[in-house]
Amino acid sequence: KIVKKYGYTHLSAGDLLREERNSGSKLAEMINTYIAEGKIVPAEVTVGLLLKAMDAASTKKFLVDGFPRNMENLQCWEKDVSQFVNIKFLLFLECPEDIMLKRLLKRGETSGRNDDNVESIKKRFKTYRDSTMPIINHFRNMGKVREIDSTRSEEEVFADVSKLFE
Ligand code: C5P
Ligand code: MG
Repeated sequence: KIVKKYGYTHLSAGDLLREERNSGSKLAEMINTYIAEGKIVPAEVTVGLLLKAMDAASTKKFLVDGFPRNMENLQCWEKDVSQFVNIKFLLFLECPEDIMLKRLLKRGETSGRNDDNVESIKKRFKTYRDSTMPIINHFRNMGKVREIDSTRSEEEVFADVSKLFE
């Protein structure tokens, strides 16, 4: 919705990793194991994929989705990318784990993802709590976080998201 309405290029770290895994490259098996275990792939890999996608993009307005997810992600970004970009804000779509679990299991009915199952989801939640929340707090201390209550309907959430982009 953001891409369509505001002309951003969507860079999903997870999508880029899944694409790299599906290409059958020498990194494929390693990436697949990390994803199934809900662990964060070594940052050099993810940042390399992000930079490649940024180079290839025709617009230079990026929606970076699912990144940075841990301190290593953030440090690698600061080393290799941050000098080239101007970060507007971090969009934090807040949703409690019980609701998220239901949504992910629903998505798992059609997503074909090997991590949309209860066991992987629980591991992803733990990784999020332990490794990603400190990153959110880092951006919060810089006044960069915009938080949206995402327990509501898609339309309600997007109405609030739109206000941030207007
Ligand atoms: O964001 P998404 O749900 O698509 O991420 C799926 C998985 O991809 C994560 O659980 C993690 O294993 C991997 N990932 C990662 N580093 C990121 C984003 C995703 O390792 N920055
Ligand atoms: Mg995603």
